[in-house]
Amino acid sequence: MRIVFAGSEAQPFIKSGGLADVLGSLPKALAAKGNECYVILPKYQDLKMPEALEYVTNFYLWVGWRRCYCGVFKAVVDGVTYFFVDNEQYFRRPGLYGYDDDYERFAFYDFAVLECLSRLDIMPDILSLHDWQAAMIAPLYKERYCYYDFYGGVKVTFTIHNIAYQGKCDPFLLQDLFGLDNYLYYNGNIRNDGCMNMMKAAIVYSDAITTVSPTYAEEILTDAYGEGLQSILKMRRYDLYGILNGIDYDAINPATDPAIAFNYDATDVKEKKVENKLALQREVGLPENPDVPLIGIVTRLTWQKGLDLIINRFEELMKRDVQVVILGAGDQKYEGPLKGFAGYHNQKFSLNLKYDANLAMRIYASSDMFLMPSLFEPCGLSQMMALRYGSVPIVRETGGLKDTVFPYNEYEDTGTGFSFSNYNAHEMLHVIDYAIHVYREDRPAWDRIVQRGMAEKLDWEKSSEEYLKVFSSLMR
Ligand code: GLC
Repeated sequence: MRIVFAGSEAQPFIKSGGLADVLGSLPKALAAKGNECYVILPKYQDLKMPEALEYVTNFYLWVGWRRCYCGVFKAVVDGVTYFFVDNEQYFRRPGLYGYDDDYERFAFYDFAVLECLSRLDIMPDILSLHDWQAAMIAPLYKERYCYYDFYGGVKVTFTIHNIAYQGKCDPFLLQDLFGLDNYLYYNGNIRNDGCMNMMKAAIVYSDAITTVSPTYAEEILTDAYGEGLQSILKMRRYDLYGILNGIDYDAINPATDPAIAFNYDATDVKEKKVENKLALQREVGLPENPDVPLIGIVTRLTWQKGLDLIINRFEELMKRDVQVVILGAGDQKYEGPLKGFAGYHNQKFSLNLKYDANLAMRIYASSDMFLMPSLFEPCGLSQMMALRYGSVPIVRETGGLKDTVFPYNEYEDTGTGFSFSNYNAHEMLHVIDYAIHVYREDRPAWDRIVQRGMAEKLDWEKSSEEYLKVFSSLMR
């Protein structure tokens, strides 16, 4: 089957979040199963340029009244062909998002993807769209492009990685940027809550909708998690599939990871984790102590990730005999208080306000526990990496966290982590206390939790099959 993926970021070229990990590993897994996979990305300035980047072609396209140059470059990595669409006015700037003209930039991208299908002669069986940046490709295809003979027959899927970011904008953009008729706003196809809404459009126009875990697929049908799209999702619930993300077990492997101090696998994790811990304590300026439970947190500092709970109980947590390492950057609202705690508790708490992929791996390798108390979590990849590195996840039971971390049951001796149900800071602290208790008082049980976590296989093997099942059902 031929599949073209469209989304705004993919590893190893550019990343701001988990979307990049998925678009970096799912196409690879599908290509390994004999499918022809393409990924189309904007050619950002900050792109980590692949060595064999080759110029392919250029053409012009229209974004509203503006006639835009579009260059196309190509690289082949791990059996997947990546195309990069180039327009310096839109993408020769630092970073990925956050500009006033983001909607125009990604309108350009959406048209570029559709043009590439015919100009590069890669008309696919499945056009797989991801998040709002690619969402408008669905109505553009179904309202315009599919009527050309050589565009017909493509099936469109849309994957929701995070329903909190929908591409809500002024209805004028429908005509001004996308050249689509206003009646699509008035008939509700592209409207939600009195705004134009790109994600809603993709939900209406795609042949199937997927999201990144089974639990999140149920949650987004509810008022609490649907972010205003629950009604339209309910209308399409028979075309909605929750497919768990995987991580790339070859690349994310403590036995071979060059970023960590001491490599290990399940057979020597106990000793090597201590050595890694001592190395990390030296690196981030915490007292060297092999016995203290070390809690790692690697996250974007946004409301989604449960920072409110962590900050709420932080002083309490600091009364325990633990160490905490945080890596990540984001909202001032969270960076501020955390900086305050870091000043007070510099013997127990190390705050690293940045993104650093290598330090992240050292935290997975060195920490005993990995805290992720998210308010909502479509899938979450960090907890899977923590499991792979033998760091025991402490999570809130939501979305993909619920589907990947199984709570420890001391009576049956089962489970791979610790979890709590309500978004409540005391509940979180209570379960952290329980984890510390098991770590200190029942070390053999703790070691078995670590072993069970490391034995999990949360890779793409099964999930890529599920994607293929959905894709094939559309083609029949
Ligand atoms: C988003 C979600 C995260 C998910 C990732 C990849 O970043 O917040 O939960 O794992 O997308 O699908």
